[in-house]
Amino acid sequence: MNMRKNIVAGNWKMNTTVPEGVQLAKDVVAKAAEVPAEVGLIVATPFTHLCAVAGVVEGTRVELSAQNCADKEKGAYTGEVSVDMIKSTGAGWTILGHSERRQYYGETDAKLVEKVKLALAAGLKVILCVGENLEEREAGKHFDVVKAQTENVLFNFTAEDMKNIVVAYEPVWAIGTGKTATAEQAEEIHACIRKVLAGKFGAQVADDTTILYGGSCKPSNARELFAQPDIDGGLIGGAALKADDFIGIALSF
Ligand code: 13P
Repeated sequence: MNMRKNIVAGNWKMNTTVPEGVQLAKDVVAKAAEVPAEVGLIVATPFTHLCAVAGVVEGTRVELSAQNCADKEKGAYTGEVSVDMIKSTGAGWTILGHSERRQYYGETDAKLVEKVKLALAAGLKVILCVGENLEEREAGKHFDVVKAQTENVLFNFTAEDMKNIVVAYEPVWAIGTGKTATAEQAEEIHACIRKVLAGKFGAQVADDTTILYGGSCKPSNARELFAQPDIDGGLIGGAALKADDFIGIALSF
């Protein structure tokens, strides 16, 4: 029997001002009671919003995440935000390795190893994103790309560490495009990721690891995706900016 948790996480990306974000968090908290208690709910806000949103979600079932962290502990790194800073806001999570960071900000697997190490050491849980781009999928390399990203980062960690790591499969071609992976396309990659984890950490750890799908997930397609045996929830972009849609997705298990 697996112990893995179903989770719906909203990645707000670079959207909302602080007051707008506070209102969105309040709306999510207000509707959260509709969602079965065993489903995890996370909002991943911009750094600037963490303290204010922490005040909104404190004492509720909604958890708080950052979207990135520095690859250094502290010091002369102007403009960077450390894991201890994130932790001190009240956030319990950070997203790492989002394709937008890999694509636009030169995030490499090697850098991600450092970031995951720092995050776990600070007591933050991690949502690690992997996923192929359109060119890689069209060339039939999607399994290889996702397998390599998973191995390059997670094979530096232990079975114990995996208790604090969630994997998110986000095909780049499906992000913000309205083009969702079919449930079958997503499931076969999720099953592949779980197999990779089983090979390294054993079947139990693999079975207990939450693997989320991300990419144009919305209330109308979430049910079919979440019905797949290896899809344990979603990492939601655009649809997480409306509390009704976000909660609608969380009601799709
Ligand atoms: P969309 O849901 O807007 O496609 O974004 C997905 C995503 O990148 C979540 O991290």
